[in-house]
Amino acid sequence: MPSYEKIFTNNKEWVQSKLNADADFFEKLAKDQNPEYLYIGCSDSRVPANEIMGLEPGDVFVHRNVANLVCSIDLNVMAVINYAVRHLEVKHVVVCGHYNCGGVKAAMQPKDLGILNPWLRNIRDVYRLHKEELNSITSEGDRYNRLVELNVQEQCINVIKLASVQQQFVKNGYPRVHGWVFDLKTGLLKDLNLDFEKILHDIQEIYNLTDSNWQLK
Ligand code: CO
Repeated sequence: MPSYEKIFTNNKEWVQSKLNADADFFEKLAKDQNPEYLYIGCSDSRVPANEIMGLEPGDVFVHRNVANLVCSIDLNVMAVINYAVRHLEVKHVVVCGHYNCGGVKAAMQPKDLGILNPWLRNIRDVYRLHKEELNSITSEGDRYNRLVELNVQEQCINVIKLASVQQQFVKNGYPRVHGWVFDLKTGLLKDLNLDFEKILHDIQEIYNLTDSNWQLK
């Protein structure tokens, strides 16, 4: 049997297990979605969004790309964030990176990688912004891990720069933006404990896109 056919067997078993737990599961699922979370993560096959968060279908709106980048000229991620924040009115936006990220590793090597160059440029820019800290780390492994974290931090800042996020926050007091890193070796999520309000405050001088002269107190 070609391996892909196994998927349909898996699918039927999954349907049955959901129905066993709740006979109306799919009827409810089809009605509407009201997720509390927007998750922006890496495409890496080892980091499945719902599974690592222990969340069910309907709980989380998901966007994934290579190295979890939030790039202002990427219409895909911009459309996802706008829809999740303005229409679904998610309470939390999470950028989740992971250690051993191939995208981040590739960006650490200064060489021509073809079509990946413009994408990885975003991570190389993170390296340049934090060059002093990164270059002071002698172990290459530790430097790699730290770049993964700093990349998450900078992508969170990119989320906070957006008009949709700032305006909804002024209106509702949410969403708040969180930076996490998934550790493949332990399965654990690490919260980088970024100070959302401080970042918003610090970027306001240049990136304030709220309607008024609103100032975070
Ligand atoms: Co990755």
